[in-house]
Amino acid sequence: MKIFLDTANIESIKKYNDMGLVDGITTNPTLLSKEKGNPAEIMREIVKIVKGPVSLEVIGTTMEEMVNEAHGLKKYGQNVVVKIPMIPDGLKVVKKLKEEGIQTNVTLIFSANQALLAAKAGAAYVSPFIGRLDDAGHEGMTIISEIVQIFKNYQFNTDVLVASIRHPLHVTEAGKIGAQVVTLPPDILGKMISHPLTDKGLSAFLSDWEKVKKENPNLVI
Ligand code: E4P
Repeated sequence: MKIFLDTANIESIKKYNDMGLVDGITTNPTLLSKEKGNPAEIMREIVKIVKGPVSLEVIGTTMEEMVNEAHGLKKYGQNVVVKIPMIPDGLKVVKKLKEEGIQTNVTLIFSANQALLAAKAGAAYVSPFIGRLDDAGHEGMTIISEIVQIFKNYQFNTDVLVASIRHPLHVTEAGKIGAQVVTLPPDILGKMISHPLTDKGLSAFLSDWEKVKKENPNLVI
């Protein structure tokens, strides 16, 4: 399973990239609005730091605006994947960019049928927002199972990128279903690394070793 970070925060990206955990990045206008500095510069820096796919989102909603922005964003680097909203003109943009060899990630997907149509238009990734579905009283993970099954049935060459993840259990469940990618806020990735029993176990090892050192003052390992 690939792990993307869902953030525009350079410090977090560097931190987890140094651990070898970051296969790619997803950003959106809200995530960029939380960072200080010029958003264009931030996006350029992210594209330089991360070798894998970096999803950068268009702001326009007409075909012309989205295509122009996509061409501009693609100049930031070869690894840019253009994030397009799941709207009728968005699907036309996905088709056109695919013909030009530009990969797209269709965002704001809330049903299996939307994912099916985005894949049919030629998206490289679909981003179903499971946390927002959970927030609205639905079982977000259900659509992940449905999408994975549909793509398998018809051999779509589109990756399911599980988005709007709220807790580590979402990641486990997405992995069991077989989704290709999860995109995680940095704090969720941090929670996945830590376990209280790991901390407790390490602390016991270290204090027991202190006893060994006292008994063997010249010990070197
Ligand atoms: C995905 O690409 C989106 O950026 C993101 O996962 C949205 O998550 P949210 O519902 O926490 O805003």
